Amino acid sequence: MKIHHVGYAVDSIEEGIKTFEALGFKVDSDTFNDVKRKVEIVFMSKGEMKIELVAPLSVDSPVSKFLSKNGPSPYHICYSTDDIYKTVDKLKQFKFIQISEIEEALAISNKKVVFMYSKPIGILELVEGA
Ligand code: NI
Repeated sequence: MKIHHVGYAVDSIEEGIKTFEALGFKVDSDTFNDVKRKVEIVFMSKGEMKIELVAPLSVDSPVSKFLSKNGPSPYHICYSTDDIYKTVDKLKQFKFIQISEIEEALAISNKKVVFMYSKPIGILELVEGA
């Protein structure tokens, strides 16, 4: 599976953008408010490398919990898959736990995404057909 993006949890999208711009990244999406997941999201890229900055919209956002525990830091790696249902089933055989519904991501052209958790390696995301 190819890596689609690395997700970074940040306190502030604006500060995150400024800092990654200093590292040569450029903003390549609008800033989205994902009200359902209570996060603000923007994508940036540098060559082939794509990152997603994720900031909480409220204190009860799942990202708020992550930030208070870990501070701003890489949060998940997202892998592309051709068939998200098949890949979820396969990863479950390797003790991955599905921690979200399979849903369409507003910020990735409504492509299907899902979050999985593995005790040895933490959170990963899958995106179908991107
Ligand atoms: Ni992501």
